Amino acid sequence: MAAKMTNLPKYITMESVRQVLKMADLIPVIEKAMGDFSKGEEGGVVQPVRTVVPVKEHNGVLFVMPGYSTTSGALVTKLVTRFRDRDKTCVAGPRSTVCYFDHTNGDLKSIMDGEVITSMRTAAASAVATKYLASKESKILCILGAGEQAGSHYQALHQICNFQEVRVWSRTISRAQKFAAEYKSTVCETAEEAAKDADVIVTVTMSTKPILEHSWVKPGAHVNCVGACRPDWQELSSELMQKSVVYVDSREAAMKESGDVLISKAEVYAEIGDLVNGTKEASRDKTTVFKSLGMAVEDVVSAKLVYDKYVQQNGE
Ligand SMILES: NC(=O)c1ccc[n+]([C@@H]2O[C@H](COP(=O)([O-])OP(=O)(O)OC[C@H]3O[C@@H](n4cnc5c(N)ncnc54)[C@H](OP(=O)(O)O)[C@@H]3O)[C@@H](O)[C@H]2O)c1
Repeated sequence: MAAKMTNLPKYITMESVRQVLKMADLIPVIEKAMGDFSKGEEGGVVQPVRTVVPVKEHNGVLFVMPGYSTTSGALVTKLVTRFRDRDKTCVAGPRSTVCYFDHTNGDLKSIMDGEVITSMRTAAASAVATKYLASKESKILCILGAGEQAGSHYQALHQICNFQEVRVWSRTISRAQKFAAEYKSTVCETAEEAAKDADVIVTVTMSTKPILEHSWVKPGAHVNCVGACRPDWQELSSELMQKSVVYVDSREAAMKESGDVLISKAEVYAEIGDLVNGTKEASRDKTTVFKSLGMAVEDVVSAKLVYDKYVQQNGE
């Protein structure tokens, strides 16, 4: 007798992810996931350290990032490859794919693009931090960097604050100009000019050295620091880190991976999830930094949202 045919996993393209995943739906989902993560075992988040597979002969790396949320009922692995050309100047990728499983029996339900998910979930996490830490009267947004994350942060932070002005700076001015043509903003020639009097600042660059100084930041402003994901990289000056109240997504990851935290030796006050859970204070009136490194659980809950919406619109 022929074996019963099972449904093949659905392939959800980048365009489809973009179509079904809406920032307004995603932010509360990420907020809950950050809270669950910070509850420890009780929050039901299983998020092992990512596996890194070097492909030395071809200047490549494969990252494997699994995660499970019992409260959301979602089991996911994100796979990212990053390959460089032989002269190491030109980066191919990163390319990111998410495998979404049925958490009750392990069936692979979907393979979906991970680029849009990464971009949107990262910005949604910053939006959650901004919701708790920025002044409620925030009017000026400053974005340092003008790539993929700059665009998603523009969209996410507008869900939280009613900005009257957005300023953008990028190392290459033409990139900032291209950004400003797509997202309503003013191009600044220097990061200092962009940061002046801003209520909310986002750093979304590939810089390995500080691009934002303490003296440029208005007292009481909130900074979302999204780049510098390695222990020897910094986006913020040590003085800015030391003189701010510092929040992170994962304290454990920050103490291992964040140069902004490790080099400055700044004290980490709390995780954003602690604010969601009401167990730590949100210092809205002080200068605050959210140091983001990204967490697998953010991919997990985002992939579930994508899958559920996709099935809702297209059928099982
Ligand atoms: N925390 C998280 O969860 C998370 C998730 C995803 C990404 N990230 C990080 O977010 C950052 C931005 O990612 P993305 O996808 O937006 O990158 P992207 O699209 O490549 O944009 C990078 C931006 O950084 C600028 N830049 C590059 N090198 C620089 C340098 N040495 N000094 C100053 N600016 C520089 C680029 O300007 P030019 O045009 O001059 O090169 C561009 O404006 C990266 O550090 C990435 O690792 C974090």
